[in-house]
Amino acid sequence: MTQSSEIAGKAAFDYIRYAQLWEDADVLTAALGDVTGGTLVSICSAGDNALAMLTLDPAKVVVVDLSPAQIASLHLRIGAFRNLSHPEFLELMGAVKSDRRAALLERAIADLDADTKALWDSLSDEVARHGAGGVGKFERYFRIFRTRLLPLVHSRRTIDDTFVSRPKAERQEFLDTRFNTWRWRLLLNVFFSRFVMGRMGRDKAFFDHVDGSPAQHVARRIRHAAVDCDPAENPYLHWILKGTHGAALPMTWRAEHYDVIRSRLDRLDIRPGSLEAFVSTGEKADGFNLSDIFEYMSPDVFAQVYERILSAASPNARLVYWNMMAPRRVPTDLQPCVNTLTDVEDTQKRRDKAFFYSDFVVEEVRP
Ligand SMILES: C[S@@+](CC[C@H](N)C(=O)[O-])C[C@H]1O[C@@H](n2cnc3c(N)ncnc32)[C@H](O)[C@@H]1O
Repeated sequence: MTQSSEIAGKAAFDYIRYAQLWEDADVLTAALGDVTGGTLVSICSAGDNALAMLTLDPAKVVVVDLSPAQIASLHLRIGAFRNLSHPEFLELMGAVKSDRRAALLERAIADLDADTKALWDSLSDEVARHGAGGVGKFERYFRIFRTRLLPLVHSRRTIDDTFVSRPKAERQEFLDTRFNTWRWRLLLNVFFSRFVMGRMGRDKAFFDHVDGSPAQHVARRIRHAAVDCDPAENPYLHWILKGTHGAALPMTWRAEHYDVIRSRLDRLDIRPGSLEAFVSTGEKADGFNLSDIFEYMSPDVFAQVYERILSAASPNARLVYWNMMAPRRVPTDLQPCVNTLTDVEDTQKRRDKAFFYSDFVVEEVRP
């Protein structure tokens, strides 16, 4: 197999697909275990989770992504952490309302390289309107859902009431009697059809290996987010339904981590390109954030890539990743090489606020 990646030939990577990370960094960092002083590897995506991994005090975090636009999203954050206060950062990203995002963007990108600057300059109007965390294709998809379709189904009052903290039994009642109406179910079925998701949110190529209906998944996962967990503590649900974060923020965006992350930015080792390229370098890592990239590979390619990752993993390194719809766990042949940390998985799955994933996997390389 080559160092390039199967999906690279299929989907376009010349624009920002994910302007924020839709995977819960609280869950990721808890699952990686004690990696103090170690080398970590992270898929970049929008960059938030690679930054969250700095709170684990590693020697370095190697960040890879096939998409230059996604790498540019990390560079934007680095500029923002360096040049903005925490409240300004939240305004720029879109977590809170702001009427001065264009000016904040200019300050954030002032010291970045010419290409990255040009990309963000070209997005300035969109950033001003939606926040830098709202300019991806995926976020645009949620925005259409929120502004054009959701109002046909739920009143503003129902949406606001969703984020009132209440005991679990009352959350169940709220979901059953106020939220899960026939109009809501119809909306889910249409909006999360393969056709619409492929057109608006994800490349159709990403569905090549996926079984089942996306709408069925979303309905199950909404129950997790709305009943098992407290929606009042869920920044992802808040963004989807209201267009900003509420009182709750994703880990990387929280004030408590801002200074620590800022002080460790020089530990990022950013390598545009594939994960497969990293595992060919001969370097070893003590933990991997693999996002949900396996789901984008056919089972055969997944098995090959998994084996290559093992060859680049130190003893006890953990492979942490999500599945959205296609099931991916250690391939049968390689099971003797890892322990599945079921307790860690179960504990973290229960609190995973990024609710659209069907599985969360933590596998530890045997010494
Ligand atoms: C797999 S996608 C999933 C996004 C995610 N669910 C989120 O919330 O951001 C994340 C990133 O992985 C990158 N990617 C996919 N396959 C890759 C590979 N083999 N090597 C490096 N990056 C890859 C994509 O370019 C994308 O930016």
